[in-house]
Amino acid sequence: ARTYHDDMKCILWTASDLASRISELGRQIAADYEGKAPLVLGVLKGSFMFYSDLVRAIEPCPRGLTMDFIRASSYGSGTESTGDVKLKTDLKKEKVAGRHVILVEDIVDTALTITTVIRYLQEECDVASVRTATLLDKHERRVINYKPEYVGFTCPNEFVVGYGLDFDEEYRSIPYIGVLKPECYAHLGIKPEPAESGESGDE
Ligand code: PRP
Ligand code: MN
Ligand code: MG
Repeated sequence: ARTYHDDMKCILWTASDLASRISELGRQIAADYEGKAPLVLGVLKGSFMFYSDLVRAIEPCPRGLTMDFIRASSYGSGTESTGDVKLKTDLKKEKVAGRHVILVEDIVDTALTITTVIRYLQEECDVASVRTATLLDKHERRVINYKPEYVGFTCPNEFVVGYGLDFDEEYRSIPYIGVLKPECYAHLGIKPEPAESGESGDE
């Protein structure tokens, strides 16, 4: 039977590529947050797999590191952000106020999601600082100018799935990151990403 693996046009980063880059990021974060009791805040759902590998890679692990999650979503079932970012959270302001927050994302694309979360933390929660660790940075697609502090890999402008990243909730479980074959989303009437034409103005 056809599997998720058969739906990949190519693999961009294997499980071992991901593991070695994440261990570098973890050591860098550990050094930067020594003595700072960071709050590692995952942006669900896409970040779940990166998050669980990254927190284990933050070595030597600073005392006082705690973990929490916030739910943010903007993509409907298409391949384009709707631009309307919804946050769902049960974070208690008094637990977050004054903390050094490390936001964990699978991908920063237009940056609408991450900047919405950051604005919420700064304006509603009085955090001491906030930085972003994102596995992928698809900076070609920015709508808002934003530069994440910790980046695993620069992502080409292709529809990538796996390692937490979904297409219509599918493919999150696969242990590597690949590019989806256009035929897998053709039924939605979505065109493949333009190879290098930049803005196509079809938002
Ligand atoms: C995806 C991804 C990031 C965001 C990036 O989340 O996980 O959170 O989009 O896109 P942006 O920079 O253009 O905002 P999605 O809304 O698909 O929810 P999910 O994490 O539950 O898949
Ligand atoms: Mn997400
Ligand atoms: Mg998604």
